Amino acid sequence: MDEILRHLHSIQTTAEQELLSASTQEQLAGLRVKYLGKKSDLSQAMKLLSGLSSDQRPLAGKLINETKTLLQDAYDRKERELSEQETQRKLARERVDVTLPGRRLPSGTKHPLTQVMEEIQQIFSGLGFSIADGPEVELDYYNFEALNFPKDHPSRDMQDTFFIRDDVVLRTHTSPMQARVMEKMTPPVRFICPGKVYRHDADITHSPMFHQIEGFCVDTHITMADLKGVLYLFVSEMFGKGTKLRFRPSFFPFTEPSAEVDISCVMCKGKGCRVCKMTGWLEVLGSGMIDPNVFGFVKYDPEKYTGYAFGMGIERIAMLKYGIDDIRLFFENDIRFLEQF
Ligand code: FA5
Ligand code: MG
Repeated sequence: MDEILRHLHSIQTTAEQELLSASTQEQLAGLRVKYLGKKSDLSQAMKLLSGLSSDQRPLAGKLINETKTLLQDAYDRKERELSEQETQRKLARERVDVTLPGRRLPSGTKHPLTQVMEEIQQIFSGLGFSIADGPEVELDYYNFEALNFPKDHPSRDMQDTFFIRDDVVLRTHTSPMQARVMEKMTPPVRFICPGKVYRHDADITHSPMFHQIEGFCVDTHITMADLKGVLYLFVSEMFGKGTKLRFRPSFFPFTEPSAEVDISCVMCKGKGCRVCKMTGWLEVLGSGMIDPNVFGFVKYDPEKYTGYAFGMGIERIAMLKYGIDDIRLFFENDIRFLEQF
């Protein structure tokens, strides 16, 4: 019995000391196995009970259990202490200085073409035009036929077309929207239709995919003066008052008479440069009075109604507005270029 008492006592003192001096969670875990585990001296001591007389056995058992409780308590205390320390260290490590200035999230900007497109739409909305959208993969019928391009007529060569099938093309202009809108609505109609168009065409002022905005207005008593008025207004809003406009007689199968409109090259102020091919002018749009044959396709009475239409190239407008001298810059997605807008 005395032997057991001494044994327990010595286990308790060394265990308590070691537990107290543990400085990491790992050390502590090791001590737990050593002093409270199945193979610990304390567990082994239980086996000694069988060597005791039956009156000593309960007392010894009780002492072993008490020692175990003491050690368990010591362990628990230390465990709390260490985990508290760990929490404090973690808080110190992760301390946030709320007075530091915030980090800005990098934010993108709208593509310059989108900005120009939105500005153009705003100007025309202000003039009472509605906006309509249409398909980029278009029927030959709308892209050509309903616009008075006869089949196999050489005028189709004006626009280098990408064909999907014999009767389906990538639209070469936004003009098919004239026919699509008119066949659904009765006059007065006043619309603009922005979107992508495609042509087999590429140099510093031509891109195989580019953007146009179609505009048209049909009502009774619409004349070419209305067309000119709207375009002058648009150009002075877009490029500032005093920007020069030039109407050049031209040909489109779906307008009669037709005019192409140039504005004075803002790059060289009309002196002549590589963008305007030394002419001092840059073509920005085609326009004219809607041909009565087109009215025939959409069942409008040409005796009753007249209308004008125009189709402008957004890239050209954006180039002029921002002084960009190569159309390809819009599509290279060079962030240094895009960030400037
Ligand atoms: C047309 O596309 C006619 N649909 C315009 C029109 C509409 C006339 C309504 C009459 C009535 P044109 O092929 O000229 O016309 O093109 C119109 C404009 O698109 C040009 O003035 C130019 O600004 C632009 N454009 C033409 N081809 C390209 C190209 N490859 N890259 C960039 N812009 C282009
Ligand atoms: Mg042209």
